[in-house]
Amino acid sequence: MSTIVMTGGTSGIGAVAVSLLRSEHRVVLGARRPASGVESLPLDLAALASVRTFAAGIRHRLGSEPIDVLVLNAGVIRANADGRTVDGFETTFAVNHLAHYLLLRLLFPALAPGAVILLTTSGTHDPATGAGLEPPRHADARLLADPQLDPALPAEAGQHAYTASKLCAVLTVRHLAAEYPNLVTPIAFDPGQVFGTGLAGDLALPMRVAWKVLGTPVGWPLRQFQPTLNSVPDAGAALASLASLDVAPEAGQSYAAVRRGKLGWQEPSELARDAEVGAALWTESARLAGWKD
Ligand SMILES: NC(=O)c1ccc[n+]([C@@H]2O[C@H](COP(=O)([O-])OP(=O)(O)OC[C@H]3O[C@@H](n4cnc5c(N)ncnc54)[C@H](OP(=O)(O)O)[C@@H]3O)[C@@H](O)[C@H]2O)c1
Repeated sequence: MSTIVMTGGTSGIGAVAVSLLRSEHRVVLGARRPASGVESLPLDLAALASVRTFAAGIRHRLGSEPIDVLVLNAGVIRANADGRTVDGFETTFAVNHLAHYLLLRLLFPALAPGAVILLTTSGTHDPATGAGLEPPRHADARLLADPQLDPALPAEAGQHAYTASKLCAVLTVRHLAAEYPNLVTPIAFDPGQVFGTGLAGDLALPMRVAWKVLGTPVGWPLRQFQPTLNSVPDAGAALASLASLDVAPEAGQSYAAVRRGKLGWQEPSELARDAEVGAALWTESARLAGWKD
């Protein structure tokens, strides 16, 4: 039995994973609302104070029991990049990346040797997947935290905030792998495109409707032709297989992607493989999150 601490376990892909994991493992969720049938502590990733309180609560709740698997799966996508958190950061960047970065730093001392750290990313971080969303132009945390400072902010700023936050997830995983090679097992999890989850909840009505409808059996024919399209059960099962340690990365691999419903190992985008960009993101994220070594 492993001890798994997880965000984003109350809906969509994460909720399926939790339903598969909870009978055999101790799963403790960070969630905005109490989850039924599983341990949870309050966590709002849109507030760094909440992240600190949650991390302290986890340390207290677990005592000397180490965390075997840390699953940072929560995420949002928004129609624009106008929202700001209570800390003053662009909401998508703050929730998807910065809060998870801080949580990772706070819980790092509580990880078991060799602990698996799963960060949910997206194929949209990579222009080569042709996902249809505005691809990330950079992973400059200062500009992502305040897109008004970005001289090359695209018109689809909400999409850019999302795909860039998912690029940040891959860069963080690769930075961890480079800096702590024998200490932890970091994995970027790319579920493919998964209609029918709650992810489109903040988007415009037509997108919300399409997302919901394509998540029903109506979407089945599409999935037969497009390898990046997956069902919620398949994506959730893939996440559970990584979190339960049933599937482990091959040497040198850290990007796990679900394609045609099956988990495999891939290379992320060229920008995601840039170690200097990853190191700069790590340092700037620490500054923004108020982290002191
Ligand atoms: N669906 C896709 O096509 C797709 C593709 C690539 C990557 N992903 C990624 O997969 C992950 C799961 O997404 P999903 O599609 O399963 O969407 P979902 O059903 O909307 O699940 C998102 C999860 O994140 C949590 N969350 C959002 N904002 C939060 C906050 N401020 N504080 C704490 N928790 C928060 C949600 O909690 P609540 O229940 O409180 O809302 C929910 O548990 C995300 O990281 C997403 O970016 C999804």
